[in-house]
Amino acid sequence: TKGPDVVDVRGLLKHGVFTYDPGFMSTASCESQITFIDGNKGILLHRGYPIEELADNADYLETCYLLLYGDLPNAEQKAKFNHSIMHHTMVHQQIHTFFNGFRRDSHPMAIMVAVVGALAAFYHDSLDINDQNHREITAHRLISKMPTIAAMVYKYSIGQPFAYPRNDLDYASNFLHMMFSNPCEEYKVNPVMAAAMDKIFILHADHEQNASTSTVRLTGSTGANPFACISAGIAALWGPAHGGANEAVLSMLEEIGDESNIEAFIERAKDKNDPFRLMGFGHRVYKNYDPRAKVMKAHADEVLKELGQVNDPLLKIAMKLEKIALEDEYFVQKKLYPNVDFYSGILLRAMGIPTSMFTVIFALGRTAGWIAHWKEMIDGDYRIGRPRQLYTGATERQYPKK
Ligand code: ACO
Repeated sequence: TKGPDVVDVRGLLKHGVFTYDPGFMSTASCESQITFIDGNKGILLHRGYPIEELADNADYLETCYLLLYGDLPNAEQKAKFNHSIMHHTMVHQQIHTFFNGFRRDSHPMAIMVAVVGALAAFYHDSLDINDQNHREITAHRLISKMPTIAAMVYKYSIGQPFAYPRNDLDYASNFLHMMFSNPCEEYKVNPVMAAAMDKIFILHADHEQNASTSTVRLTGSTGANPFACISAGIAALWGPAHGGANEAVLSMLEEIGDESNIEAFIERAKDKNDPFRLMGFGHRVYKNYDPRAKVMKAHADEVLKELGQVNDPLLKIAMKLEKIALEDEYFVQKKLYPNVDFYSGILLRAMGIPTSMFTVIFALGRTAGWIAHWKEMIDGDYRIGRPRQLYTGATERQYPKK
């Protein structure tokens, strides 16, 4: 509900006033019923359900359903939804040839932006955003095809043939199958890895008006098709201050290289003349422990044990870094806690996922939230998003006479 301190800017505009709020620190861009965050208390609810409970009890597709339609599905709804998602997993065969235009050493996120945007050129039978059926089928197509495209990006980068989806597998297992199977040997999905991947998807599924979701909404507010909107969201997610942080965490751990160097890097992070920041620490909204990080950490410990990876030297650096930073005066005072990306990077590494794919996996999970927000906006009343600016340039001047 709107508290007394919420200013409705439409009233202000009538009086010719607008707010200047760089970084949108205190500006709400929309009303939404999808996700609630209390950053001071470390609370995250999707449609009212705490993230911890969803991570413990739901699977990713159930979470997608909840975000899209507002309630958890009953058994029949769940079966129907899963069937629809698992039967849209193929991509048009011509998309295979589309890949050949990219260098094999391209960053996977660059190809993701391009191929997801290009889906509009292949699925233009569902681009009428005013048609409820089109909106529905596009939402399902996006959730279904993202893992297929992501796995294709990986296979292309290592020069292996694409693996076709297997619709008899669950969502996370199918993704792992497309990533790691090859025609020469049988690949059996490890259920521990599949469960961990599903958890990662759930924990990334939505986070209200973060930079990429706001980008999806802003793009969608022009009437752009949803494939273009999600492509814009992927581009925004790529940055190291947002989804790119999970990849940046691993690069940082590699740069630290040895436990004996941790203190020096912590000192660098505190030095205002040094642009270096501890990647995976801090959050715009959470000034308390990120609840997703708590779940991810518990899960990471479990999975590391299961996969026998507890002796990885980079993981040891990560654990020690976390301990030192959590006790450091600077980080304590500024309320800089490890965020979800700190632990997801560690977990993904333990699972053998290449670092360059980390942000792609974030994008797979966040697709549910992006589409739910796009759908919520298009289903309701919305206007084109058009922020104002505070002009600080030259006043009017005359073009010099020749
Ligand atoms: N290391 C060192 N100092 C930091 C860090 C960090 N990781 N994060 C914030 N600070 C300091 C800033 O220097 C600033 O100090 P000051 O007040 O003395 O100037 C203060 O803490 C506040 O930081 P801001 O940048 O103003 O906070 P903002 O809300 O704009 O940024 C952000 C949040 C981008 C996440 C930031 O904490 C950061 O860069 N973290 C590292 C990148 C990262 O992990 N991103 C993932 C975010 S989570 C996600 O996308 C799922």
